[in-house]
Amino acid sequence: MKVTVYGSGYVGLVTGSLLADVGNEVLCVDVDQTKVDNLKKGIIPIYEPGLDDVIKRNVEAERLGFTTDMDQAVAHSEMQFIAVGTPPDEDGSADMQYVAAVAKTIADRMTTRKLVVTKSTVPVGTGDMVESVLRDGLNSRGEKIDYVVLSNPEFLKEGAAIEDFMKPDRIVVGTDDDYAIEQMRELYAPFCRNRRDRLIFMSRKSSELTKYAANSLLATKISFMNELSNIADRLGADIEDVRVGIGSDPRIGYHFIYPGCGYGGSCFPKDVKALIQTAKSKDYKAELLEAVDNVNDRQKHVLFAKLMKHFDGNIENKTFAVWGLSFKPNTDDLREAPSRVLIESIIEAGGRVRAYDPVAMQEMRHFYPDEKRLELIGTAQDCCDGADALLINTEWREFRSPSWDTIKASMKQNLVIDGRNLYDPAQLRSQGIEYDCIGRPQPSQRKSDIKAA
Ligand SMILES: NC(=O)c1ccc[n+]([C@@H]2O[C@H](COP(=O)([O-])OP(=O)(O)OC[C@H]3O[C@@H](n4cnc5c(N)ncnc54)[C@H](O)[C@@H]3O)[C@@H](O)[C@H]2O)c1
Repeated sequence: MKVTVYGSGYVGLVTGSLLADVGNEVLCVDVDQTKVDNLKKGIIPIYEPGLDDVIKRNVEAERLGFTTDMDQAVAHSEMQFIAVGTPPDEDGSADMQYVAAVAKTIADRMTTRKLVVTKSTVPVGTGDMVESVLRDGLNSRGEKIDYVVLSNPEFLKEGAAIEDFMKPDRIVVGTDDDYAIEQMRELYAPFCRNRRDRLIFMSRKSSELTKYAANSLLATKISFMNELSNIADRLGADIEDVRVGIGSDPRIGYHFIYPGCGYGGSCFPKDVKALIQTAKSKDYKAELLEAVDNVNDRQKHVLFAKLMKHFDGNIENKTFAVWGLSFKPNTDDLREAPSRVLIESIIEAGGRVRAYDPVAMQEMRHFYPDEKRLELIGTAQDCCDGADALLINTEWREFRSPSWDTIKASMKQNLVIDGRNLYDPAQLRSQGIEYDCIGRPQPSQRKSDIKAA
């Protein structure tokens, strides 16, 4: 089949290259000329494990191409996927200008039937909006051409995007058009070979809401655990024991109940906010979702609060090592990353930061091009040289088992504040390291517990 994908970001590139990988002829489109020029030279704008190989082999096989030419994009295929960004507006609602622009691009140029498939995460009712842009465009040209607008939200996770796309838990499609259903069945057949029920059809509005429902529920689980970790912190209970204790209940499960320093990325924060705004537009106050969002904003400040407590509220001219910048491992995505809140707070309070991340350093420099108090250091070990404390933001695998003896020798003070609970507190403390983390008792609390018992 022939497919056009508008938007060559995380979702567009993964969708386009993997649809090509199973034999389709795919044209990826973007308005960013530099991005397209780079893609044509084999330079991939994002870090996603394995994606460069998939793109390379499909470009070589001439099944995958890149363009900024909108005439070519619209003419290339019947199946037109929209995978452009839907960033938050000032009030948190999704900014639909990019989706609307693609709809207009198609409306102004189409001469044959089109299936317009929205892959971007879009508020309920966006399909109606895209339909009206197509209708108005065709009317203004005096043309009468068939089209169907479908919703097909994407559930991939950055860092595991290829696996998620190739072996999806489910593929949700919102349409009631028989021809569109048949075409989507054919397109997705290679991804559902062992289980046809992976393809779930429903109404367009239900499909649009399903994506927000999934992300909001996952964000709720995280904020719930972070809320509990703050309570555990104050009670001297250990949130990691609590996590295992509740996760073993199959009704709860272990997924997404890890406490930490807040969720980030391009999806959870914006999707929770957008759903709150959608509810508000229908005069409904989404109180639970507002709390999920507020708890997360507060959680992003927890590491800094712990740091200030250790230094009695004064960190002026102190230097801190920060491990991990991306909002989660295996990505260079810094959108809404908790690390940025931490680093900005340290700098504002007069401290200095030496930071390291396996892949997100270049991206970090884009965010803070002139910040003299932020140094990006080539290795995790060097990052600790002369540091008054080490703070951990992201659970990259290479941080799991560091050489503490070497680190201790290079740091000014042996203080580790861990936002991802990577280490065994007793083990670190036995090595002479002062260790603080999320929702786990400090030694003084443990002693008083034992005495009380
Ligand atoms: N990133 C994720 O993990 C993820 C997962 C699932 C769903 N989503 C959703 O998918 C959508 C895209 O997200 P992303 O992370 O890939 O975004 P992104 O910002 O990485 O990429 C969007 C791309 O669209 C391009 N673009 C903007 N206007 C365009 C136009 N008129 N024509 C062609 N291209 C245009 C931009 O230049 C950019 O390259 C969002 O709605 C997001 O919420 C993202």
